[in-house]
Amino acid sequence: MTRLSGKTAFVTGGAGGIGSAICSRFAKEGAQVVAADLTAEEAPSGNISSLRYDVTNEEDAKMAFETLLERWGKLDILVNAAGIEIEKTIEETSLEEWNRIFAVNVTGMFLTSKYALPLLRRSAGASVINFGSYDGFIADPGLTAYCATKGAVHALTRAMACDHGPEGIRVNAICPGYVDTPMLQSFFRDAGDIDSLKQSVRDVHPIRRYGTPDDVANLVNWLASDEARYATGQLWVIDGGLSAQVQQMKL
Ligand SMILES: NC(=O)c1ccc[n+]([C@@H]2O[C@H](COP(=O)([O-])OP(=O)(O)OC[C@H]3O[C@@H](n4cnc5c(N)ncnc54)[C@H](O)[C@@H]3O)[C@@H](O)[C@H]2O)c1
Repeated sequence: MTRLSGKTAFVTGGAGGIGSAICSRFAKEGAQVVAADLTAEEAPSGNISSLRYDVTNEEDAKMAFETLLERWGKLDILVNAAGIEIEKTIEETSLEEWNRIFAVNVTGMFLTSKYALPLLRRSAGASVINFGSYDGFIADPGLTAYCATKGAVHALTRAMACDHGPEGIRVNAICPGYVDTPMLQSFFRDAGDIDSLKQSVRDVHPIRRYGTPDDVANLVNWLASDEARYATGQLWVIDGGLSAQVQQMKL
């Protein structure tokens, strides 16, 4: 498996559930990878280096890509996977919480992309993959601010694809449903009977399970590769069929 041989990749949220699966997969496919996250975890492979990086901090973005310009001279793959979730209705959400989730989920993507673009332009086939969500199309109750940020990510993805397609930079968004990661575990933690909730969540999927980080990394890997050379400006839903069905049929 060397689909990404010779490529370089920068993954925000690279220590998270989905981000770390993506970093491992990229490394197995032959890419050199920077896993950028709030805390720099022990890198699991020689091809992956960890970077302490806060997506809300413009200085971090400037420094990271100045360093990568010297080290690699280009960037082929950018994955914007850092994200947080707030489980509240709009009345329960404080202005500080609203600003924080937009700072991480949307402004963080803007800042990282802005400073990565000069390096992406130097690639022979650059690919940017943003993390949206099926929550950017349809709403989970009690996730108002999160849903709003993911709608913004979807619009940002299309706009970036239009602006940078002529420069040879493809931009897509992955829109997962439920994926088994620390973010999902925290979502379940606040529920009363966790086992029965988990079973109900599995049952509501046509495919009868929720996703794994590797399910998502498979799609990211393809979008990052040259096989996806004609794919840009799209919102790729990967949700076990969750959003394909008419929910009223379950009543
Ligand atoms: N897990 C799901 O069910 C699911 C569903 C749809 C979309 N997503 C999206 O996928 C992406 C990855 O989510 P995950 O499930 O792996 O979550 P996760 O909580 O396991 O990982 C998120 C990572 O982002 C990092 N992060 C948070 N704030 C940061 C900041 N300011 N700077 C740098 N890193 C920061 C965290 O430290 C963490 O490692 C997120 O954008 C999330 O919204 C997840």
